[in-house]
Amino acid sequence: MAVIRLIVTRCWRKVGMGLGGCRKMWNRRPGWYVFGVAQICNLLHRGIAFCGTSTLRRASGAGCFVIVLSCLQPRASAGELRSIGNIFKPLSAPAESVYEVSLLALLICAAIFLVVAGLLTVAIIKFRARPGDEGKEPPQIYGSNQLELAWTVIPILIVVVLVLVTARTIADVQNQKLPGDALKVRVVGHQWWWEIHYPDHGVVSANELHIPLSARNQRRPTSLTLESADVIHSFWVPQLAGKTDVIPNRRNTMWVEPYAPGTYLGNCAEYCGVQHAKMMLRVVVESPEEFASWIAAQQAPAVEAPSVRAGRELFMKTSCVNCHRVAGTAAVGIFGPDLTRLMSRETIASGAARNTPENLRAWMRDPQTIKPGCLMPNMQLTQDEVTRIVAYLQTLK
Ligand code: CUA
Repeated sequence: MAVIRLIVTRCWRKVGMGLGGCRKMWNRRPGWYVFGVAQICNLLHRGIAFCGTSTLRRASGAGCFVIVLSCLQPRASAGELRSIGNIFKPLSAPAESVYEVSLLALLICAAIFLVVAGLLTVAIIKFRARPGDEGKEPPQIYGSNQLELAWTVIPILIVVVLVLVTARTIADVQNQKLPGDALKVRVVGHQWWWEIHYPDHGVVSANELHIPLSARNQRRPTSLTLESADVIHSFWVPQLAGKTDVIPNRRNTMWVEPYAPGTYLGNCAEYCGVQHAKMMLRVVVESPEEFASWIAAQQAPAVEAPSVRAGRELFMKTSCVNCHRVAGTAAVGIFGPDLTRLMSRETIASGAARNTPENLRAWMRDPQTIKPGCLMPNMQLTQDEVTRIVAYLQTLK
């Protein structure tokens, strides 16, 4: 008994290690992972095809297809930084309306698909060629007024219903009257990051938008004004609202009203250049009290830590200050994110990496390794300079 248990435990551990290795492989090189699984399936399928019956062969082919497809499913562990919210799980008023309309459109399309595919299947089976058929063309029928009327009028009615429902939803969302005390936020899209202003509070941040939680009986919506500093971007946090384009020389508006606390992940949804995919956005929805204390912390005057004086002086002497701002210092640049409260953010590089000392060091040494093509150049700093500047940045809380 003890021997069997030992063998089972050992085997189980091996399986666990194998699965762990697969998961790591999937996280680091998803393309190679799928390729590997596809090759293993292919070999198995060939083996079965060589010695099995035709039914077994078909079943193994279908099985391989399903396994490869299942590998393409997004995994939660495939880097929490990148997984954006589920469009079928709306948690804010505008997203709920969008979801309802999309569900109606999907249902109508599914019904049309079932009717068309069903009729096609019946026709294919019932009127298939049989042994002994004459090789002639079947009788051709033209001009049935009833049929032609039916397939013209029914689609027109369906399209009219979809247009009316969509137009009504768009009007509802766009004409929504927000309470006068709704939080106002101004978002500016840049290649490839988001500048965030709270004009009523004098707070400037980047890439991580903090907003208060709403309740169904007590609305606390956030009104967003969207601008662009360069090219067209698109502001999209799927669980909060639909996409809104962020266009140069134009001011677009939208609003969100989230009903559940938590961090919502979004992404720029309009191709805007080489790092478009890493122009991510985090929206932190917190209780009104937590939001108020976050705002208060952002407004508090910066504390100058004497221990990092060397790093601060070096930072102020390099061209960092031409692009970045640190409130109350000589750094007043506006091309890059405001660094006054850098350490209050979970990520750096617009969500491309976690905000850890190691990642900050890597970013300072060469931003191109984390975000190839990004507009922050390699500053050619020495190891010692990087250490001193990172020590200073870590005091910007
Ligand atoms: Cu900004 Cu895509």
